[in-house]
Amino acid sequence: MGVLVLPTTAHAAAGNDRTTVVAHRGASAYAPENTLAAVDRAHSLGIDWVENDVQRTKDGALVVLHDTTLARTTNVEQLYPDRSPWNVSDFTSAEIRKLDAGSWKGAQYAGARIPTLHEYLRRVERNDQKLLMEIKSPELYPGIEDQILVQLLKDGWLDPGHVKNRLIVQSFSANSVRAVHLRRPDIKTGFLGTPAAADLPSYAKFADQINPSHTTISADYVKKVHALKGPHGKPLEVFTWTVNDADTARKVMGYGVDGIISNAPDVVRDAIKG
Ligand code: G3P
Ligand code: CA
Repeated sequence: MGVLVLPTTAHAAAGNDRTTVVAHRGASAYAPENTLAAVDRAHSLGIDWVENDVQRTKDGALVVLHDTTLARTTNVEQLYPDRSPWNVSDFTSAEIRKLDAGSWKGAQYAGARIPTLHEYLRRVERNDQKLLMEIKSPELYPGIEDQILVQLLKDGWLDPGHVKNRLIVQSFSANSVRAVHLRRPDIKTGFLGTPAAADLPSYAKFADQINPSHTTISADYVKKVHALKGPHGKPLEVFTWTVNDADTARKVMGYGVDGIISNAPDVVRDAIKG
């Protein structure tokens, strides 16, 4: 007769109904990160939530890319050999449009482009998905928060339905998260990092989530976050990253996290099922 292993917390007992699984940079284990192909791959896996990273080009366009340089995930060094260090902010949107952001991940993705935020929002909308949007390195892009809010408004992402159920804005920059909260207090926000427990109340004034690396948390830390109420009067949530294997997914679910951000969201979903 097999050994019955009881869940150690009420949260684990609840299974995954309460744990949101987010495709990190899209389903980036399988498709080139932060491209429309990665959004579509998450969709085909049945994953509702996608995470992305937003930056700004030299001529002021909002684009979706993780690194602040174009070198790792595109053919920029071949196309523009004399433009080192290939910063996103040194290239125009027309130049960025010419880059291949897919081949590095596999020949089948050759020709995938770095999407504009507008294109990205349209694809997430078309797929009926939800967006955890990161403002990446905002110190490099003064005023990017306002610009992002304008784009979200133009693309229909600031209506009550999107704001209530389909959008979270996060950043490693507390100033950036605070700026978004002050301009649009209705938007759900997240701070990326692991603030000391004593500092959590100050974050709870402008962030609904504390989103730490899974390597930095414990059940006790998650409990301390949950004990506080965020700007919308609800307990602060924890979405942890980047969890790509079943054992770690089950471990952090046991800690009681509210969300798990993963390059392989199908692996996480299957691990925490039921
Ligand atoms: O969403 C969490 C995660 O994206 C933060 O780290 O470096 O992958 O943007 P990074
Ligand atoms: Ca990110």
